[in-house]
Amino acid sequence: MEQLFTSLLNHSSVRSFQEKKVPDSVKKNLVAAAQSGSSSNFVQAYSMIEIRDPKRLALIEDIANCPGYVANAGVFYIFVADLNRHAQLLAHYDQADKIENLKTIESLTVAIVDTTIAAQNMVNYAEANDLGICYIGGIRNDLFKIADLLDLPSYTFPLFGLSIGYPKNKNQVKKRLPAEEIVSIDSYQAVNFDLLENYNQQTARYYAQRSSNQQQTDWSQKMLDYFRSPRRVDTITFLKQQGFIFTETSENSPIE
Ligand SMILES: Cc1cc2nc3c(=O)[nH]c(=O)nc-3n(C[C@H](O)[C@H](O)[C@H](O)COP(=O)(O)O)c2cc1C
Repeated sequence: MEQLFTSLLNHSSVRSFQEKKVPDSVKKNLVAAAQSGSSSNFVQAYSMIEIRDPKRLALIEDIANCPGYVANAGVFYIFVADLNRHAQLLAHYDQADKIENLKTIESLTVAIVDTTIAAQNMVNYAEANDLGICYIGGIRNDLFKIADLLDLPSYTFPLFGLSIGYPKNKNQVKKRLPAEEIVSIDSYQAVNFDLLENYNQQTARYYAQRSSNQQQTDWSQKMLDYFRSPRRVDTITFLKQQGFIFTETSENSPIE
């Protein structure tokens, strides 16, 4: 148990891998770990696409702007929030009229949560077994190209890639926000700017001293930069293309 805790606290993203493929036996366990996660109403609304084709890997690496850590990973998966399986199932059982019910924001939320839980389960297993990982949200830089490349059907949303492999270099662990800033009791708490100032000083030291890509910044400044302008504004256009609907529906049914 303590070993798992140590592994979780030692997490840092790996962006440089040894030239060594992850063996099938390990990949089998990675997938089993992912699939063992909780799933809202047991919908299991995700697919994992392992990308092996070097041409596809190169294209994805380019779209995601992650030089050297997609194509050179020991294995690379794309995690897809997937309600197409359920659309097929409804059609198969002559309930195609119910496909409407999986186009909603709620269904999409369920699928995104399920997919993310599966991915993090895979990550936890990988890291506990000395593999390094990096999530690749950069695939959403061009959702249309990714969907085209992977033949993604309606009611699917490629959320992120996951590079896994044997680390060549490991980055220093980044200190997280103080727990007091994240955890409150009984009701929501506003930001404690004194705590935050202390955290900014810690992160400023980290960014100034880390072994590569040193920067004069801190966490708050990073967030100001991040939210300076809207990002990936065509995500909604993509989701509409995929069949999701962003309007209110009048009926309601019990929720989990
Ligand atoms: C959903 C998600 C998408 C991410 N996408 C990228 C990415 O496209 N490229 C990249 O280099 N890192 C990516 N990361 C890694 C984050 O930058 C990293 O987790 C964060 O800076 C914290 O650093 P650490 O993981 O080393 O602790 C992503 C992380 C998450 C959770």
